Amino acid sequence: MKLLVLNGPNLNMLGLREPDIYGRQDYAALEKLIYDTCAAEGIKVEVFQSNHEGALVDKIQGAYGNTDGIVINPAAYTHTSIAILDALKAVAIPAVEVHISDVKSREDFRQISYAGKACVKTYMGLGFEGYRRAILFLKEYLGK
Ligand code: DQA
Repeated sequence: MKLLVLNGPNLNMLGLREPDIYGRQDYAALEKLIYDTCAAEGIKVEVFQSNHEGALVDKIQGAYGNTDGIVINPAAYTHTSIAILDALKAVAIPAVEVHISDVKSREDFRQISYAGKACVKTYMGLGFEGYRRAILFLKEYLGK
């Protein structure tokens, strides 16, 4: 089983960025959690972060035919990007949406998730734990 974990803009700033919302752990700690979880579960994984919408679209397209599942935190592009939604629909790879913060309890402009419309499940407000849950969920989902 091979998963692709995608992270959108400003997630490379974890640790520095609004720590009251996103916590004090940095992006390297998030990557470690993802690699450790996948290693423990026998899952191959590629982790990719970009601040650029098109780079995320390219990565989703590139997953076609070689990836079983996608975990995606599109960050701010969650609320704006029809391009990411369309890419997820185009490849039709089962995808799970993750948000570190509890987006539902935040500003009005965060209440729409385009990418989420192409995802089989969403985890939000669990911090980094949401990524671990998403990986475990996909393992179970893809095993069926
Ligand atoms: C986020 C929530 C988004 O609204 C925000 O733009 C982010 C991070 C989260 O993980 O909580 O950059 O996706």
